[in-house]
Amino acid sequence: MKLQTLKHRSFRCIWLRETLLAAVVMIVIATPTMRAAKGSQPSETSASHHSFNEGWKFYKGEAEGAESPGFDDSSWRSLDLPHDWAIEGPFDIKYNARAGGLPFHGTGWYRKTFEIPAAAKDKLVFVTFEGAMYNAHVWVNGHFIGNRPFGYIEFQYDITGHLNSDGPNVIAVKLTPEDHSSRWYPGAGIYRDVWIDYKNTVHVAHMGTFVTTPEIDTNHATVAVETKIKATGNNHAITSKYEVLASRGQVVASTVATATDSGGDTMASATMQIDNPQLWQLDSPVLYTLRTTVFDHGNVVDTVQTRFGIRTLKFTKAGGFFLNGKHTRIQGVCLHHDNGPLGAVANPRAIERKLQIMKQMGVNSVRTSHNPPSRTLLDRCDEMGILVQVEAFDVWKIAKVPNGYNKFFDEWAERDIKDMVLRDRNHPSVFMWSIGNEILEQGNAKEGNRIAKLLNGYVKSLDTTRPTTCGFNYYPAPYKTGMAAQVDIAGMNYKPLAYGPAVDEFLPNTPVVGSETSSCTSSRGVYHLPIEKYQTHESQQVTSYDIIGPPWAYPPDIEFAALAQHPEVLGEYMWTGFDYLGEPTPYGGKDNSTNGYWNADWPARSSYFGAVDLSGFPKDRFYLYQSQWTNEPMVHVLPHWNWQDSGHETIPVFAYTNCEQVELFVNGTSAGRKTKGKDRSEIPVKFNRYEKDHMLTKYRLSWDVPYSPGSIRVVGYVDGKPVAQKEIKTAGAPAQVKLQADRTTISADGRDLSYVTVRIEDRDGNLCPLASNRVQFSVQGAGKIAAVGNGNAATTAPFIADHRDAFNGLCMLIIQSAKQPGEIMIKAESEGLSTDELALSVK
Ligand code: GAL
Repeated sequence: MKLQTLKHRSFRCIWLRETLLAAVVMIVIATPTMRAAKGSQPSETSASHHSFNEGWKFYKGEAEGAESPGFDDSSWRSLDLPHDWAIEGPFDIKYNARAGGLPFHGTGWYRKTFEIPAAAKDKLVFVTFEGAMYNAHVWVNGHFIGNRPFGYIEFQYDITGHLNSDGPNVIAVKLTPEDHSSRWYPGAGIYRDVWIDYKNTVHVAHMGTFVTTPEIDTNHATVAVETKIKATGNNHAITSKYEVLASRGQVVASTVATATDSGGDTMASATMQIDNPQLWQLDSPVLYTLRTTVFDHGNVVDTVQTRFGIRTLKFTKAGGFFLNGKHTRIQGVCLHHDNGPLGAVANPRAIERKLQIMKQMGVNSVRTSHNPPSRTLLDRCDEMGILVQVEAFDVWKIAKVPNGYNKFFDEWAERDIKDMVLRDRNHPSVFMWSIGNEILEQGNAKEGNRIAKLLNGYVKSLDTTRPTTCGFNYYPAPYKTGMAAQVDIAGMNYKPLAYGPAVDEFLPNTPVVGSETSSCTSSRGVYHLPIEKYQTHESQQVTSYDIIGPPWAYPPDIEFAALAQHPEVLGEYMWTGFDYLGEPTPYGGKDNSTNGYWNADWPARSSYFGAVDLSGFPKDRFYLYQSQWTNEPMVHVLPHWNWQDSGHETIPVFAYTNCEQVELFVNGTSAGRKTKGKDRSEIPVKFNRYEKDHMLTKYRLSWDVPYSPGSIRVVGYVDGKPVAQKEIKTAGAPAQVKLQADRTTISADGRDLSYVTVRIEDRDGNLCPLASNRVQFSVQGAGKIAAVGNGNAATTAPFIADHRDAFNGLCMLIIQSAKQPGEIMIKAESEGLSTDELALSVK
């Protein structure tokens, strides 16, 4: 493994934690007020790069002849991309709950009529799709341009030769996602951005820039640049000017490189020195921009700006992971690509908000399970200081589902994994490449080794500055056969009890990471008593005491304990940060290899694994991780305190905290103070590799207290002083609807979002924790309803609607801006409750 070195640097360690909740919070579970990240922008820009998202036509179904320019699409729907046709529903038992119970398979067509601007008539024209789900076939003016099967990969076509420079042109895209092609909801459609580029003959190739920082010390950093230039082959000199811009735009280094135009791909390269480099750190992710200006015969022919960061990565077997020389434990989450009620649409604000919520939980790393991510996700991780493990595949050649990517693997895997690396290797946030997840070739020594070696080699041929990994869920097979040793870091899925000697026996020199952990399940706001009784429950919900999971799963506490015992393990990626569409385990399906539909527990249709629900409301588990991953004093208490008429006289109360002690007050009277680390809580454990059927966990404090209406309040103490508290009051009858926007000013770009939390409250403003009142919305002015949701994993209620039932007191209204500035007036009404109104401004 070739790793960058850090010679010397001292660090100021400032914990700049965005607080989700003020120290004193009376009512739990609401999304916080948030701002869009300052200066959010694409990490790669050029003057010749233009959005191609607007003005498409869409048709769901077969459309014979739709590739030909004369085809009449006037009856097709008009829309702007990105778009996911499946999220529009309806949910139906005739679709597979494993993939979200939504109509994602079938044929979909997109067409766009466009003209080439006069200034671009003599240019080369390229169209870039950041992702199309899936099996895209593309035509321009009736000419077949190409096919790209993988739905998660970016691809570009040179369409110059097929264009009319003086009249209208038609691009047509046919997608054919198949049933049984995914273990989760993949979405359907052109769900990521599309771009058009007008380039001169001599230009920087798509994904043609590679910036590294091979040497970094306190006073200097070396920036090495390689550029692939598309040229003409006439042997003349092409000059590239390289400038490094610091965050305020000032040039801090520059140089010029000359390459001889050898046709096709001409490579230019150079190195530069930066004095007093500012490092990309988690709490201060400083970014630089490389500006590449290409000159041909003295004229500027292309300019590309590429953002990068200066940081060192070091992974050791004995000591763990070091970022810029500082030991950094991975506090990671696995995330699928969907954005809940918006489906697969890669909306920039939805992605940013997801990451903000994860950061508040204490997350410092994301694993893009199990596929290449959107550009936006990486751009925001660069800006927010979140490390990313970019993963290529969920499957190689042996199928997990009947119509999976294995069908395309032989023909496409090399191209796909190389394009993943080429596109994403300039992001400072990207710190590890995963070549696969739970690949079934683990059970086949020869194939497992062969393909792992091959894929690892493809990655290394393009980037040796980051390690490779793979998520293994078998033990000991991949370790014994040598497959795990093909990558730099062994990812262990659900094997906390094998950390240490059990894995080191096979991998004496390879660092280990918990690439997928826990898989605990829960439904926000749902508490079943007794806490251990129901794996599944007639309500199709899972208790939020944070103990239940499928047979391979275990409570977060077991992972925490294993990591504490094995400080050499790099850290963990819990499954999952957010709930996602599809895979409604423990409902619907029994294991990952079940064929057929997972509809036995319809309408359970989305995951219960998230620490945060599908609408972005934190579940209790969010706070369990926060108590382990953050330092700002926090305390959380569960369950709710509305147990009248439940028949339960004694209620188990759990507190999650990072304070030294917690005192519980029930109706104002102390039920005792407990000390974290000393006082343990017994929780049942059904993990099939755990020798006991319970755990005495030191990660939660608990009390069993008799129920009477009033309140529970927890106070966290450090050095004997109260530093955090949270109270939950018994709520009275629902009396009012309350609206709280995460952002009250949004951009007039037609795609910005405000997430409006809708609360059902009693007349004193307490959240009614069992309320399911229907709320009717009316929205007027410079925006519209993008979607609604409530985090209930077992409902067929549509996401695109003007009403929603609350789920345990809450639902979510997602408002999308128009392209014109103005006001958005929102009204929320519910029968028998007082109405609320809210104004947003669009600027
Ligand atoms: C893992 C798998 C994930 C998800 C998870 C649920 O085995 O890698 O994709 O299915 O199980 O627990």
